[in-house]
Amino acid sequence: MKAHEIVSEVLKRMAATARPGVTGLMLEDVAIKVINECGGHSYNKGYFPSWATKPYPAATCININHFIAHGVPSNYKFRDGDIVNIDLSVVDPDGICGDAALTVPIGDLNKRTERLLRVAANTTYEVIRHIKNGVLTDDLARITQRFVWNHNLLVNRRFTGHGIGVKMHEFPKIYSTIEDGQVYETLKTGDILCIEPILTTGTDDIGVTLDDGWTVITRDRMPSAMFEHMVRVTDDGCEVLTTHFSLDAI
Ligand code: MF3
Ligand code: CO
Repeated sequence: MKAHEIVSEVLKRMAATARPGVTGLMLEDVAIKVINECGGHSYNKGYFPSWATKPYPAATCININHFIAHGVPSNYKFRDGDIVNIDLSVVDPDGICGDAALTVPIGDLNKRTERLLRVAANTTYEVIRHIKNGVLTDDLARITQRFVWNHNLLVNRRFTGHGIGVKMHEFPKIYSTIEDGQVYETLKTGDILCIEPILTTGTDDIGVTLDDGWTVITRDRMPSAMFEHMVRVTDDGCEVLTTHFSLDAI
């Protein structure tokens, strides 16, 4: 299987397992098993970029409620009303990386959180709708920020989408907001991109890293949600490669 097929399959199986009483470590076990079945390898486990203090300890990131990103799987039992973002990166037998995510509702959500999830998924598709050969990444960032603001929500200013290939994080960076010091590029036909704007009902602050060295949470403990697709840029649009969520399912 190709990298984008593997991440789609694993995420579907993890999402189908998530319900009250299930833990992040249980989802991690499902992921390891299905990655193997699909002939893939974890990219996350042992991932040690220069900015990190220690290697990432797991194959999945499990971001519960106010976790923004890089949530290390734990023994916490999911509860009715929680939202759980499941983020996964793999390498396929050809050495190509796949990276995708979704946010799963556990039981019944309150209206505000339900809306956060819906707008988060819609924002990913709003970005996708504007992708084609020749588009500038600063235009994409303005479109993303405006869309989220129009829904009275905020998009995280620190984490970005990215190109992907033989490495998980390649250029171009796909920013969700306009900030000083960002380097903008032009999208090209054939680029494979990961689109992953992170939304919150609280502040767009860059967040706080927990003592595990990885898990990043919102400073105000307000919930955070993100849906990540892999796409291939074409002359007049893009092809969505991953199939683990679609708008009609949310
Ligand atoms: N999968 C994340 C992304 O969307 C990165 C995870 S890095 C890890 O870019 F080390 F936490 F796994
Ligand atoms: Co990514």
